[in-house]
Amino acid sequence: MAVPLYGLIENNRQHLSDFRAAFAEVADSGQFILGPCVAEFEQQLAQYCGVDHAIGVGSGTDALMLTLMALGVGPGDEVITSPLSYVHTAGSIARLGATPVFCDINPRIYNVAIESLEACITDKTKAIVPVHLYGQMAKMDAIMDLARAKNIKVLEDGDQAIGAKFGDAMAGSVGDAGIFSFFPTKNLAAIGDAGAVVTNDAAFAAKVRKMRVHGLEPGYRVKHLGGNFRIDAIQAKALSIKLPHLDQEIVRRRELADRYNRHLEELQVSAPVEAEKRYHTYNHYTIRVRSGGRDALMAHLDACGIQSRVYYPVPLHLLECFAYLGYQEGEFPVAEKAAAEVLALPIFPEMTNAQQDEVVEAVRDYFRAE
Ligand SMILES: Cc1ncc(COP(=O)(O)O)c(C=O)c1O
Repeated sequence: MAVPLYGLIENNRQHLSDFRAAFAEVADSGQFILGPCVAEFEQQLAQYCGVDHAIGVGSGTDALMLTLMALGVGPGDEVITSPLSYVHTAGSIARLGATPVFCDINPRIYNVAIESLEACITDKTKAIVPVHLYGQMAKMDAIMDLARAKNIKVLEDGDQAIGAKFGDAMAGSVGDAGIFSFFPTKNLAAIGDAGAVVTNDAAFAAKVRKMRVHGLEPGYRVKHLGGNFRIDAIQAKALSIKLPHLDQEIVRRRELADRYNRHLEELQVSAPVEAEKRYHTYNHYTIRVRSGGRDALMAHLDACGIQSRVYYPVPLHLLECFAYLGYQEGEFPVAEKAAAEVLALPIFPEMTNAQQDEVVEAVRDYFRAE
C-alpha cells in the first residue's frame, strides 16, 4: 500500500460537513475577508497560545514579513536566523533591504546554536528569528537572555511548531512575537494559505493589525506603511473548526514518533531527539541517514510507494539568491551536514499503525540490502 507523507485529505474529510456549513455562513454573510469569523479565530488562537493578541494574516510568510516591517527592520539592520529553514525566513529579511545573518545550528535539534548565535551579534543586530524546525522549539531561555541583554527583538518562527512547548510556555508566547503558517501541511492547516502573528505587546499588536491593511487609519490616512496581509474569512472559519482537535492530533503524532523511534533504533539512522524542557509536535518526523545513504534510501522508499522529503536540501547561505552575502560552503558545517543527511518520513494523525509498519519495513529492507 502506498503511504503518503501527509494525510491532508483524510484530515479534512472528517470536518467536511462543518466546512460546508461554514462556507454557506461566509457566503451568506458577504464578509469574505477579515470580519467576525477572523476575530473569533484570533481570540481562539490567542487563548490556545497563551498570549494576549493574535492577528490573522494571509500566510506564514506574510506573518514574518509584516512583523519585521512593524519592527521597522530595513536597510542597515542585521537579522540573525538559521540557515536550515524554508527560504521565507532569510527571504523576508532580504526583501526589506536588511541583511540576513546566518549562524550554525545545534546538531541534535536543528535550531540555532547558542554560541554561534552569540558570535553573530553586532550593534546592527535588530532581531533574531529562531526557527522551531520540524515541530520543536529552539533553546528559548538562552536566546531570550542573549536578546534581552542587548535589547534585540526575538521573533519566533513557529511555522512548523504550533502547540510545541518550552517548559510550560507555548510556541509563539516567549519572544516579542511569534509567527505561524497554516499552510496545508502544517499541524494546524487551513484549506489554502493562512498564517498568524501572536504577541503579548498590545501596542505592537495594534500596529501589526493596522499594517495588515496597508497601515490604513480612518480617513485613508497612513502613518506606518504596511501592505495587503489579510486573511480570508473562510480560512479563519476552517481553522476555528480544526483548532479544538489539534492537541489530540499532536498526541497521536507523538505516539507515532515514539513507535518509529523504537522500530528504527537498531538501524543506521538517527531518530529525532526531544530535547530537555521541550514538547515536540512532530510536524515532521525527521531521521538522519549517516554514511551518505540518504538519497538512496529516499529512492528506495519511493520505489515502495512511500513518500519522504528533505527539509531542506540546500542550506539558505548556499542559495544562489543569497550569493551576494558572501557565505562559502563549509562555513556552517553542522547545518550543511544536516542538509545532506535529514529525511522526513510520513507522519500524520490519521496514519495507521499498519501504514507505519510498512514504512519501517521498507527502511529495514533498504539497510538489509545495503
Ligand atoms: C519553517 C517555515 N517557515 C515558513 C514557512 C512559510 O509559510 P507559508 O507557506 O505559510 O508562507 C514554512 C512553510 O512552508 C515553513 O516550514
